[in-house]
Amino acid sequence: MTNPNYSAKQRDDARRLSLQLLDKIRNGAALDDVVEMLAWHDQPIPKSYVRHILMGAMRQSGQLARMLNRHLSKPFDKASSDIQDIFLLASFDILNTTAPKPSVAHAWVETSKTIGNLKRAANLLNAVLRKVVAETPEELPNPIHNLPFWLRKRLIADWGQPRMEKIAAMLLEVPPTDLRLMKGQENPAKDAHVVTDQLIRLADASIDVRDLKGFDKGGFIVQNLAAGLPVDLGLALHPTAKTAIDLCAAPGGKTIQLLDHGLEVTAVDYNTRRLTKLEQNLTRLGLDARTIRADVLQLQQNTDESYDVVLLDAPCTATGTIRRHPDLLIQKHESQLEELVEIQKKMLDRACQLLAPGGILIYAVCSLFKMEGEDQAKSFLERHEDFEFVAPTLPVWLGDKEAIETHEGVRILPDHLLEHGGMDGFFMGYFKRKKR
Ligand SMILES: C[S@@+](CC[C@H](N)C(=O)[O-])C[C@H]1O[C@@H](n2cnc3c(N)ncnc32)[C@H](O)[C@@H]1O
Repeated sequence: MTNPNYSAKQRDDARRLSLQLLDKIRNGAALDDVVEMLAWHDQPIPKSYVRHILMGAMRQSGQLARMLNRHLSKPFDKASSDIQDIFLLASFDILNTTAPKPSVAHAWVETSKTIGNLKRAANLLNAVLRKVVAETPEELPNPIHNLPFWLRKRLIADWGQPRMEKIAAMLLEVPPTDLRLMKGQENPAKDAHVVTDQLIRLADASIDVRDLKGFDKGGFIVQNLAAGLPVDLGLALHPTAKTAIDLCAAPGGKTIQLLDHGLEVTAVDYNTRRLTKLEQNLTRLGLDARTIRADVLQLQQNTDESYDVVLLDAPCTATGTIRRHPDLLIQKHESQLEELVEIQKKMLDRACQLLAPGGILIYAVCSLFKMEGEDQAKSFLERHEDFEFVAPTLPVWLGDKEAIETHEGVRILPDHLLEHGGMDGFFMGYFKRKKR
C-alpha cells in the first residue's frame, strides 16, 4: 500500500510515526488513544498506510517473528523492542505492499539510518529484509503463532483445538464495521448487509463513519453486533423496566442503547477521560443521562435507590475483541486474568445490591474465557441464592448454532456468523432476584 501522491519524505515520516506508535502501545497506551493520536496528527502523511502497517504488524506479530527467526542468527525475541518493532513493521509492509518489494525494504533501511538507536541495526536490517523480499504471505508460519502461548492454551482448554485454530485464522482478517441505527433512523450506507432495521454491517470496513449521512445528527453509533446483544436481550426480559444503571459505562455504547429503548439511565465510570467521551457521545446523539464518576466498588448509594436494570459490562481481558484490538496480543498477560476475575466477582456482588425487586442484572464481558464468563456467572449464583438465571429469547438473525445458549447465559465466539465476517466474542448472563 503506497500512495503515489505522497513524497518520499512524507512516507519516511509515516514509517517513523508507525515506529513511535508501536512503541507507545508496547508501553501500555490504548490502541483507541493511539488511533486518535494518528487522526489528529497535523502533518500531511499517508495515515491509512500507518494504520495498515501498525495493525497488520500487531495482528501477525507471531507469524512474522517466526519467519524472521529463519533469517536471524540470534532469536528474534532476544532483540531490543525497538529493533523488534522495525523488523515487524518493515516485514509486514514488504509482504503486503503493491509496490516493488526491494524498494520498500530499501526505504525501511534508509529510515532506520536516521533514527538514534536503530542506526546500529541498519546493516542487519538490510541483510534480513533482503531475505524477506523473497518470502510471500502464503509461506508464513501457521497463524496460531499470533496468539501468545498462554492464550492458545486457555482457548484450547475452553473450546478445543479446532476452535482455537479458527479464531487464530480469523484474526488475520480486517473486522467488519457494524452500525446501530437509533430508533426510526434510516440506513446511511449503500451496499450494507442489513441484519435488522437497526443493525447494519458495512460492506467496506475502511469507510470513515464520520462521512456517513446522519453521523453529526446522531443517527447511529458504531457497535459490533455482539456488543449490542447484552442490552437488547436483557431488556426483552423486562419490557416494563423504566430505570437502569450502567456501571462500567464509558465510552457509552450500551448507555446509548438503554436510552434509545426509552429508559432513564445513570451511567457510572471511574475513568474521567472515558466518561468525558461518553458525555460527548451523548451530546452528538442529543441524549441525556445522569453521569457519575465513581469506582463501582466504592459507589455511594441512597438506601432507597434501586434500578429495574443493572448493567455490568465489566472490565475483562477483552480477548473477544482481539481482531479489532490486536494490541491485546502484545499487552495482555496471563497474570492479569486472575486479577480481573477477582474484580469482576466483587463488582457483581456490588451490582446486585442496586437491583429493584423483579429487576434484571445483566452481566457482560467481551472475553473468550469461561473463567470470566460462564464460571463467573455460576459462582455468582452459588454466592447469591436469592438470584436465578433467566434465559433470553435469541433473535433469529443469530442462527441456531449449537452452544450459543449455555446454562449460564449466552456465549458468542468470534466465528459466529462467519459467512458474514464473524462477531466479537462475548458472554452475557442474566440474573433475576427470586420472589420471596
Ligand atoms: C468494557 S468497558 C465498558 C464499555 C461500555 N459499557 C460500552 O458499551 O461502551 C469497561 C469500563 O469499565 C470502567 N471501569 C473499570 N473498572 C471500574 C471501576 N472499578 N469502577 C468504575 N468503572 C470501572 C473502565 O473505565 C471502562 O470504561
